[in-house]
Amino acid sequence: MMPSIKEQLSKKIEKIEQTIDFYLPEEKGLQKTVLSAMNYSVKAGGKRLRPMLMAETYEMFGGADSSVIEPFMAAIEMIHTYSLIHDDLPAMDNDDLRRGMPTSHIKFGEATAILAMAILAGDALLNYAFETAAKAFDGTNKDIQTAKALQILTRKPGIYGMIGGQTVDVEQENKAISFDTLMYIHNNKTAALIECAMMIGAVLAGASEKEVSMIEQIANKVGIAFQIEDDILDVVSTSEEIGKPAGSDEKNGKNTYVLFKGIEQSKKDAEQYTREALQIFDELEYKNPFLRELLLYLVGRKN
Ligand code: IPE
Ligand code: IPE
Ligand code: MG
Ligand code: MG
Ligand code: MG
Repeated sequence: MMPSIKEQLSKKIEKIEQTIDFYLPEEKGLQKTVLSAMNYSVKAGGKRLRPMLMAETYEMFGGADSSVIEPFMAAIEMIHTYSLIHDDLPAMDNDDLRRGMPTSHIKFGEATAILAMAILAGDALLNYAFETAAKAFDGTNKDIQTAKALQILTRKPGIYGMIGGQTVDVEQENKAISFDTLMYIHNNKTAALIECAMMIGAVLAGASEKEVSMIEQIANKVGIAFQIEDDILDVVSTSEEIGKPAGSDEKNGKNTYVLFKGIEQSKKDAEQYTREALQIFDELEYKNPFLRELLLYLVGRKN
C-alpha cells in the first residue's frame, strides 16, 4: 500500500531538516547570541513547505544534484524564518507564539534584556541566506543557472515581492481597503515566496523559460490559496493547533480574505485557486505525483 501523504510528508520533512541543519551556523564567537537566536527560530519546526516545494519541483524537471539544490533549500527557509521573526515583532503583528514556541523577541528579549536581538536575528538570517545560497556555485559548473536562481532568490522576497506585501499589510490595518489591495497583499506577502521556491527548483533543473513561467503561475495560485487558508485558520483554529496565536488578525484589525468573503466562500475560493493551479500543472510535460498531491493537501490543512 502507498504510504499516506502524512507519512510521506514527515519522512520528507526529516530529510529537509537535516539539510537545513547542515547549513546553520555554529553557536560560537562573541556574536553567539545572534547565532543562537537564528538557530532557535529555524529549528523550532514548521511545515518546511518552501524547501519542499523547491526540491519537488527540482526533481520533477530532472534535477539530481544535491550540492546545488540544498544550499537554496536552506536559504529559502532562512528567509522565510526571518520574515516570521520580524512579522511577530511588537511593531508588526505583536505575537508571542510561533511554531509552538515563544517568539524570538520574547525568548531572547527576556534572556538578554535586549529586544533588538530578534531584529538582528532576522537581519542575520536574511544575509546568511544569500551567503548560503551562493555556496551552490562551489557544487556546480552550471554557473548561469545558479546565478539565475540567485537572482530570483534576491527579487521575490524583496520590495516587489514579500516586503512590498508586508508593507501594505501593516499600513492598512484597521482601514477599509479594496479587494484589489487585499489581493496585492496576498500576492506579495505570501505568494511571492512560494513562487520563489518553485521557480528556483525549475531553473536549477534546467527548465525552459516557458516552463518556469508556468511554474510561476502555478505557485502564485498555490500561494494565494495558502494565504486564504492561513486567514481561515486564524479564525477557526486554536493556538495549540496552529502553533501561533489564533485570532491575531482580528486583534490587529487586519484585512483578511475571510473579512471580505466569509469563511465558506473563502474555502471555496481557496479550492478554486488550487484547481486552477493543478490545471496548469497537468499541462506540464513533467510529472511529480507527490507534488500534485501536496498542492491539493495544502487547502484544508489543519496548521
Ligand atoms: C506562515 O507560513 C506565514 C504565511 C505566509 C502564512 P507557514 O504556514 O508556512 O509557517 P511554517 O513555516 O509552517 O511555520
Ligand atoms: C505573514 O502573514 C506573511 C509573512 C511574510 C510573514 P501573516 O501575518 O498572516 O502570517 P502568520 O499568520 O503570522 O503566520
Ligand atoms: Mg503579518
Ligand atoms: Mg503574523
Ligand atoms: Mg496569518
